Amino acid sequence: MNNLHVPTFCHDDCDELAALCKAGGDPLRLNVLRALANDSFGVLELAHIFATGQSGMSHHLKVLSQARLVATRREGNAIFYRRALPRVEQTGGALHAALLAEVDGLTLPTEAQARIAAVHAQRAEASRDFFARMADKFQAQQDLIAGLPQYRDSVLALLDAMSFAPDATALEIGPGDGCFLPELAQRFAQVTALDNSPAMLDLARQLCEHNGLTNVTLRLADALDKATLTADCVILNMVLHHVAAPAEAMKHLAGWVRPGGSLLITELCSHDQSWARTACGDLWLGFDQDELARWASAAGLLQGESLYIGLRNGFQIQVRQFARPE
Ligand SMILES: C[S@@+](CC[C@H](N)C(=O)[O-])C[C@H]1O[C@@H](n2cnc3c(N)ncnc32)[C@H](O)[C@@H]1O
Repeated sequence: MNNLHVPTFCHDDCDELAALCKAGGDPLRLNVLRALANDSFGVLELAHIFATGQSGMSHHLKVLSQARLVATRREGNAIFYRRALPRVEQTGGALHAALLAEVDGLTLPTEAQARIAAVHAQRAEASRDFFARMADKFQAQQDLIAGLPQYRDSVLALLDAMSFAPDATALEIGPGDGCFLPELAQRFAQVTALDNSPAMLDLARQLCEHNGLTNVTLRLADALDKATLTADCVILNMVLHHVAAPAEAMKHLAGWVRPGGSLLITELCSHDQSWARTACGDLWLGFDQDELARWASAAGLLQGESLYIGLRNGFQIQVRQFARPE
């Protein structure tokens, strides 16, 4: 018997590279990657955005996923697709990073942009509708997951550690019933509170009047509105998971932070309690710590201090400071 040694040829690295080249070799898939630049969508949303059938879109997402160009995240019963991060130390990592850089230089077709705006508008409408219906039960609703008393001290600890000048200003996005406004009014020369729900703003107005807060201005507007506001500290307590496009919102709001100022975000960490969607109107089931850091960095902010709070009901809260360089 001839004892010839047949060398086994390892295709693994080539396979990975081939999958990446294959995934990048289709205009629709490149446009999907472009659309996922700072958003995440479900398969039905992507099928709608690109006017294609659901099974066709599922196929494209499978190819992108096999090439590790997209990653999935379960949000209750729904699966959302987002871009995967390039890992430059791995085979194909440099090509992956270069592909995304090229894709980001492309402009999405106008019809796709319009459909993305429609998806965002639909998400925003669901959130506004929830707060319009729930204003009278707001506190009970909040307590289902976490009420202000559970994170107030941590937010204040970070706020006080930032040592703002006596003439510094604050902007609170989504003040809800306004319970945090007395704390801000005490610490800042001027405070603006912006909410897109007239019913919630009404509760905040009553609280400001009751507490005689003379340096607080209330404003009915959406966090994603084109208006140009500025403040030394922009604060969002439990708001981002109600916003239609959170990464875009962070970029937009970072532009409202004065140089040297901070964006202070209190948010739920990623969770799988999908009942929060219907019971609390949540659009997103919290966020990964890295996800917030990435969005902040894409918005030109630097990571500052963070605090994490574990709750007895299993939820975890992150309080994050992101600084805008001078
Ligand atoms: C869960 S409540 C949080 C209230 C308060 N910050 C707290 O910690 O108790 C979310 C608030 O954000 C507001 N909101 C949601 N989406 C918004 C948006 N896109 N622009 C402005 N306000 C928004 C809602 O109307 C609501 O008052």
